[in-house]
Amino acid sequence: MKTYKEMTKEELMSLKAELEKMYEDVKGKGLKLNMARGLPSSQQLDMEADFFNTFDSTSEFKSETGLDCRNYGELLGIAEARKLMGDMMGIPADNVIVFGNSSLNIMYDTVCRSMVHGVCGSTPWCKLDKVKFLCPAPGYDRHFAITEQFGIEMINIPMTEDGPDMDLVEKHVNNDAAVKGIWCVPKYSNPQGVVYSKETCERLANLKPAAEDFRIFWDNAYAIHHLYEDNQKELPEIISLCEKAGNPDMVYEFCSTSKVTFPGSGVAALGSSKKNLDYVKSIITIQTIGHDKLNQLRHVRYFKNFDGMKNHMKKHAEILRPKFELVLSRLEEEIGSLGIGSWTKPVGGYFVSFQALNGCAKNIVAKCKEAGVTLTGAGATYPYHKDPDDSNIRIAPTFPPIEELAAALDVFVLCVKLASVEKLLEA
Ligand SMILES: Cc1ncc(COP(=O)(O)O)c(C=O)c1O
Repeated sequence: MKTYKEMTKEELMSLKAELEKMYEDVKGKGLKLNMARGLPSSQQLDMEADFFNTFDSTSEFKSETGLDCRNYGELLGIAEARKLMGDMMGIPADNVIVFGNSSLNIMYDTVCRSMVHGVCGSTPWCKLDKVKFLCPAPGYDRHFAITEQFGIEMINIPMTEDGPDMDLVEKHVNNDAAVKGIWCVPKYSNPQGVVYSKETCERLANLKPAAEDFRIFWDNAYAIHHLYEDNQKELPEIISLCEKAGNPDMVYEFCSTSKVTFPGSGVAALGSSKKNLDYVKSIITIQTIGHDKLNQLRHVRYFKNFDGMKNHMKKHAEILRPKFELVLSRLEEEIGSLGIGSWTKPVGGYFVSFQALNGCAKNIVAKCKEAGVTLTGAGATYPYHKDPDDSNIRIAPTFPPIEELAAALDVFVLCVKLASVEKLLEA
């Protein structure tokens, strides 16, 4: 079979007419499907029914140190929750503060704190002429939204199969004191499913920042979200790597149980050095008297320990795996030989990242929308919503039931074909 680029103009014109007819038929079906949201499905949430049996009116609500979790106290989180979340990040409980339900909230507050109060005694960022963040892209839109809201200048850093382009990262961080942070999703990244290599992690840990208050924002949201038992990627533990490299305070690590138990009702945590945590504590002690310790206790009772949590993730993987495999097989069957797109093949996380021909992503997303299939907005995976190539589309296969996912993928591949033909005919 010819690739689209090998076709003559006449062949492309006749293909276009054929695809347009199919597209009109699909539009007539009045579909209402969604591949935009990185949410667990109701099947996954239903699986958590026992969570609600962890407590009843006769339960003991004391933490292991004897604290009554129904009352105020333990600003840093109960000891057993600090241990569980520490195990999730591969760090000691002493290096962990357990917060409320959302790691994104901790990230937002961490940036906000740095703007208003500074970082461990340095000048507050809001008093500086310019503050910059490195943004490996494609990346997580909500990270970019935080730095955009605070007026922080965002610099695109291309992603490679091993993580961010480290030559560029080193160039910016080591030479520009206005660069105060980098957003990283180091494992099963959103949206590509990339796992940072050992070399990338080591180079990050060995940065020589021009700014003393430069921090790596290490969002380990998918630390234990493997799809395959026999193909689980390992990520070096960054806090001890930084310590070894003589940069003990250079990283904030974030994680949560949002996609382990319930998004919006999980437990989130910050991991960092003692110095950083002491500073954070000195600020949050004014902000709150303590987070939801009953939820922390429920999580510990539900999983018992980290092994319990890992076993639990296998059940999520059983539901998610067929959905990811469906995406990959449909893409391969329908467009694998046409030369009009490439995509990642993640073994964990929540997304597949699709690269269309340059200049096609917006058109594909618009066409899908018109045919009743919602995708994440084109450009959303880049700072300022600006994908320089208009090429990246994030596919989120987890939420819809598998039949709906299959129907949505049919529309998606049709729109990719049509948008690609239109682009090639423009040339
Ligand atoms: C990379 C990444 N970080 C953070 C979050 C949100 O985490 P939380 O629910 O803990 O705020 C998401 C959710 O999609 C995500 O993809």
